[in-house]
Amino acid sequence: MNGIAQPWWKSAVIYQVYPRSFMDANGDGMGDLPGVISKLDYLAGLGIDAIWLSPVFRSPQDDNGYDVSDYQDIDPLFGTLEDMDRLIAEAKKRGIRIILDMVLNHSSDEHRWFIEAKKSRDNPYHDFYVWRDGEAGTPPNDMPASFGGPAWEWVPELKQYYFHQYSVKQPDLNWENPAMRQELYKILHWWAARGVGGFRLDVVDHFGKDPDQKIRVAGPRLHEYIRELSREALQGAELVTVGEAWSATTDSAKLYSNPDGSELSMVFQFEHIKLDRVPGRENRELMPLPFLQFKEVLSRWQTELYEKGWNSLFWENHDLPRCVSRWGDDGEYRETCAKMLAILLFGMQGTPYIYQGQELGMTNVDYALDDYRDIGALNHIREMRAEGYSEAEILHSLHTVSRDNARTPMQWSTEENAGFTKGKPWLRVNPNYRTINAEAQVNDPDSVYACYRALISLRKKYPVFADGRYALLLPEHKELFAYTRTNAEEELLVVCNFYGHTLQNPLDAETSDMRLLISDYPDCRETLRPYEARIYYRTRTGRK
Ligand code: GLC
Repeated sequence: MNGIAQPWWKSAVIYQVYPRSFMDANGDGMGDLPGVISKLDYLAGLGIDAIWLSPVFRSPQDDNGYDVSDYQDIDPLFGTLEDMDRLIAEAKKRGIRIILDMVLNHSSDEHRWFIEAKKSRDNPYHDFYVWRDGEAGTPPNDMPASFGGPAWEWVPELKQYYFHQYSVKQPDLNWENPAMRQELYKILHWWAARGVGGFRLDVVDHFGKDPDQKIRVAGPRLHEYIRELSREALQGAELVTVGEAWSATTDSAKLYSNPDGSELSMVFQFEHIKLDRVPGRENRELMPLPFLQFKEVLSRWQTELYEKGWNSLFWENHDLPRCVSRWGDDGEYRETCAKMLAILLFGMQGTPYIYQGQELGMTNVDYALDDYRDIGALNHIREMRAEGYSEAEILHSLHTVSRDNARTPMQWSTEENAGFTKGKPWLRVNPNYRTINAEAQVNDPDSVYACYRALISLRKKYPVFADGRYALLLPEHKELFAYTRTNAEEELLVVCNFYGHTLQNPLDAETSDMRLLISDYPDCRETLRPYEARIYYRTRTGRK
């Protein structure tokens, strides 16, 4: 790669752990840090380089930890600070870094800053949050909060409203206040000194909000704030930083992930994730994926960011449904489809992320209404009931889009509760754990897990995965997603049949002098079978 040393995260694969659903070591039904430690060998076996750990800080758990009441302590649900130190050290022994999920747009209303802020208008912490004067019953404007209701909450003692873009227990921090920002930087330094490998910045594009202009995301001072944060809190250490930015465009991503290091390493962008959302019913239903647009969007990100930024590659996280259920087949072809989606993603340029269970091909869950736990789902049920929807309609909606689809306990084995806990799991396990589980897959060379492991090792072996220039092939083909990656020495050809029909392979001739690196079928035929995916390789001097 031009002989210049590249940061470690450009050739890394990152695995997201949602701790409450990963592994429970103490039998209280809730995953915890000792549970994560007990599974490090499993993760090292997969070959990952870092773990993004969803929040484990002290929290009243109104939004499963995305409401932090102390950024410098661990919630007793998950363990202790000593457990965290042990996790960092044990992971390090296995070559794995720990990336913490920092929720810096808002805190919990139980954070001591907010408790102080509410005491009086001249309390030094008052200005750590976003307040507006007003009268009871007449909020400053009609901005809604993400989990339902208005974004303004009245505090009668102060005769003021505070602003909260998420739940009423998640007051927005005031990024316009330099003293507040300095406190956040101290926290980041403190964790960096404890040895973490980086940070995921929750809803980073909300930092520059301007409620008077009704601006939630991508506000006028956003990049100024990020540059300051980067300069004052992230320099020196080899930290990876990834911002969550639903509003990111390829243009803003070039700022966020500027190769000069002035902002972050990369952002999670959601343009491809938004394509099957129904306008006006974003959190209610999904429509069939507009496939040509899907190819266009992902390809545009690949070409636009080439040498000008850096992509994060993902299909899943703790907020999204499972990709096999969403875009593919979670029945007859579940395994092949899961492998195809893996191959499609891992062939691209950027840092791939695997969400826990994705490497097993875990699926959405068929819950009853009272099985749901997510604040988003509970709100969704309340709203749809009030709007007169039937139980069946509400269930259908939740089965398709609920965040709890991704939060079902990790499926380790055929033991009771999927081997996740000896107690009563906080969220019901998906009954399909009897067939879909890690124990059955780790030693099976044909498993989805084995496919992910092979992809990770291929990415380590061939530099073209990290630095090759991307070109989309057959942009108008309605069922095939095919592209090449090319650097000075090597070339990859990735061919994926995205659907369940057998197709003629229009690229057959191209591959005659190429070597097959990986495929999701045991043999190669002229046709491409349902969800068949292949990566071919050649050196540009003609050696296979
Ligand atoms: C992010 C998190 C999500 C959380 C929200 C508020 O989108 O991924 O889980 O509810 O921010 O912090």
